[in-house]
Amino acid sequence: MINKLTVIGSGLMGHGIALKFAQHGCIATVFDPNQSSMDTLFKRIEISLIQMDVSKLNIKKCLSLIKKSNNLKQSLENCELVIEAVPEKLGLKQDIFKEIEKFAPDKCIFASNTSVIPISKIVEKMRDRTRALGTHWWNPPHLIPLVEVIRTQWTDESTIGKVIKILNEIGKTPVRVEKDVPGFIGNRLQHALWREAISLVENGVCDAQSVDAVVKSSFGRRLSILGPMENADLVGTDLTLDIHENVFYDLESSKNPSKLLKNLVNDGKLGMKSGQGFQKWNQKDPDKIKLRISKHLKELDKII
Ligand SMILES: NC(=O)c1ccc[n+]([C@@H]2O[C@H](COP(=O)([O-])OP(=O)(O)OC[C@H]3O[C@@H](n4cnc5c(N)ncnc54)[C@H](O)[C@@H]3O)[C@@H](O)[C@H]2O)c1
Repeated sequence: MINKLTVIGSGLMGHGIALKFAQHGCIATVFDPNQSSMDTLFKRIEISLIQMDVSKLNIKKCLSLIKKSNNLKQSLENCELVIEAVPEKLGLKQDIFKEIEKFAPDKCIFASNTSVIPISKIVEKMRDRTRALGTHWWNPPHLIPLVEVIRTQWTDESTIGKVIKILNEIGKTPVRVEKDVPGFIGNRLQHALWREAISLVENGVCDAQSVDAVVKSSFGRRLSILGPMENADLVGTDLTLDIHENVFYDLESSKNPSKLLKNLVNDGKLGMKSGQGFQKWNQKDPDKIKLRISKHLKELDKII
């Protein structure tokens, strides 16, 4: 286990990443130049720990291991692993990796939490790219077990091995991604589904609520215990082939985002935050949904 982690970015993902390491006795220093985000960091971590049913004493212990810093150089002193979790902008991430390499110790490992940007693009300007890789955590980071560990053409095998070991030690489920493809594994799968979902609505096959009802009341129910590859083997590769021969020709295969989605964004219909996206929402809906998700994830943890 490492003793010192630095997290760059104190937002939604950064707070949960720092929390998981601190829970396992690691000092987690969080660097963020945005004072308002730093001001709420401890409170947000405390709320997440309460959500996880952590005792008051352990919350106190965990918070005592989290350090805030607005000085990048200082935040990286003696750091063994640095995880970047700043907004999904390539230029910003590239600049940060160049900068952290200047100040971090020689053996430090550099990881990006990007959702979809190839890691090789983010780290291409670094001097030593053998110690850089992707660690893609999922939201909420303190409750979803998976971390995709992405290698680039330059990443040293020992870097991958060390990171997988560390993630196992803090109770995560690391999965190796052997090629640095955009979207890695999880987001490619997820957005292939979303592309088809939006297309069904756009083409008048059903409305948005019906898409969600179908997913939630059918294959969504079993996805957390039966992955698509296992399912194909369960029903038989022969049936899978028959289905693919009879349906693939009609599935959405556009290389661009849909017109319907672009129009929603252009019209300011940005989803729950604006009250309207594919459906209408009220102000309290996001909090209610987040609460249901965390309850559901905790229950799942008990039975899986
Ligand atoms: N939100 C998700 O569901 C999710 C899931 C997986 C991965 N990700 C990825 O994780 C990364 C962070 O996402 P998020 O949702 O936590 O974003 P966020 O907006 O909640 O947090 C980003 C934080 O980075 C800080 N920041 C901006 N510039 C900075 C700089 N130069 N140095 C240090 N900090 C800086 C901001 O002040 C903010 O606190 C993104 O790459 C995102 O794609 C997000």
